[in-house]
Amino acid sequence: MADKATLSYEGSSIDLDVVIGSENEVGIDITRLRGATGMITLDPGYANTGSCTSDITFIDGEKGILRYRGYPIEELAEKSSFMETAFLVLYGHLPNEKELADFENDISEEAYLHYGMKSHFEGFPDNAPPMAVLSAMLNILSCYNTELLTTATEGPKFTEPAAKIISKVRAIAAWAYRTSIGKPFMPPRPDLGYSGNFLHMMFSQQFKLYEPLPEVERALDLFLILHADHEQNCSTSTVRMVGSSHASLFSAVSAGVGALWGPLHGGANCEVIRMLTGIHEHGIKPRDFVEKAKDKNSPEKLMGFGHRVYKSFDPRARILKGQVDAVLKALNISDPLLDIAYELEEMARSEDYFIERNLYPNVDFYSGILLRAIGIPVNMFTVLFAIGRMPGWIANWREMHEQSLRISRPRQIYTGATKRSYIPLGER
Ligand code: CMC
Repeated sequence: MADKATLSYEGSSIDLDVVIGSENEVGIDITRLRGATGMITLDPGYANTGSCTSDITFIDGEKGILRYRGYPIEELAEKSSFMETAFLVLYGHLPNEKELADFENDISEEAYLHYGMKSHFEGFPDNAPPMAVLSAMLNILSCYNTELLTTATEGPKFTEPAAKIISKVRAIAAWAYRTSIGKPFMPPRPDLGYSGNFLHMMFSQQFKLYEPLPEVERALDLFLILHADHEQNCSTSTVRMVGSSHASLFSAVSAGVGALWGPLHGGANCEVIRMLTGIHEHGIKPRDFVEKAKDKNSPEKLMGFGHRVYKSFDPRARILKGQVDAVLKALNISDPLLDIAYELEEMARSEDYFIERNLYPNVDFYSGILLRAIGIPVNMFTVLFAIGRMPGWIANWREMHEQSLRISRPRQIYTGATKRSYIPLGER
């Protein structure tokens, strides 16, 4: 393959380096472009822009491939745990027994929140959106860990905040939920695994501990594995963007939560359930809904369909679809929303509109049905996505600092008014 690409404009040309990734992805390195030519590139939505090189996650959207650190998502989903996958994403290799035990121990020791944080929770109104609470409280962790506000990528100054965030995000999520329903906080149980402990903090009562079925705990662990990283999406790019100013890891992941919240990104998992519930409760025919989703004059979209990168299928959706059946069977639940989801998927897969635009179910299409089955309230779905994504955000923040990247500062093409003189108030 050529190692230069030539760009010509108005009679002059520049040779640009070509960067080839380990999976033969090709990128034109335009780092020198502005200095040498005065021009910039324009790519709204960054669909053609690589913001970094990365060793963490590989996606081939055309073939429906997703790998963390080289390991296929299908194998991790089948054989790994969320703790093992989190270690892999963060540190680049599968942990040996001691590494895994130490990591789990660090996470377990960090499960408690500082008691002072209770007063912050009490300050939120009951109907506060949990993603707003999560984002605020992750930033508030900075106030209780001022000695950890560094950009260290090795040693305790990195491993401690990383473990704190991965562990405490569960307690923050569970406390936010319990505050919103007027229930007291439930302290973590060190004897439980990552997902079991979260379910306990969410659902245990003072005199009745919640004991999750193994299938439920495993389903949640699997959900978290599938969300652990997804390369340079909107929220991960936000984490890198904020981190690039040398803001702390706490602030960077707090900003990531804000970006994830939107319905076009992580918030889609709530929207899918709202869409399916609306169809079910109002007796709308799935066919009529699909027609609306295709109509440019209608605001409806088929939520949980389409993806910027996947143009064949999202492998996470395929894994989740298989799990949903198993979990519903184990819990002896039959969910009418699942039948509607199957019907919508079948129609969408055979309609030209969706085929031509490569619109397939994404991770959010079936995840809501899974979370609903295991008792997670709809307004907590995106919070669960955020819990799963923490290792990926932290790994990306760390990689960015290891590579000593410059501050993220895109340019623009200005299209506003050219120079004009100020007009005094009475003369306008
Ligand atoms: N329903 C109906 N039409 C759609 C949909 C949809 N869900 N998604 C895209 N389209 C159409 C869109 O109108 C456009 O049509 P046309 O070419 O005629 O103008 C075409 O498909 C291309 O869509 P786009 O919006 O330009 O694609 P994008 O890459 O900018 O956006 C997306 C990707 C995921 C934001 C979008 O597909 C979408 O809004 N999907 C629904 C929300 C959703 O499920 N989001 C979760 C994404 S996966 C989880 C995550 O990682 O965030």
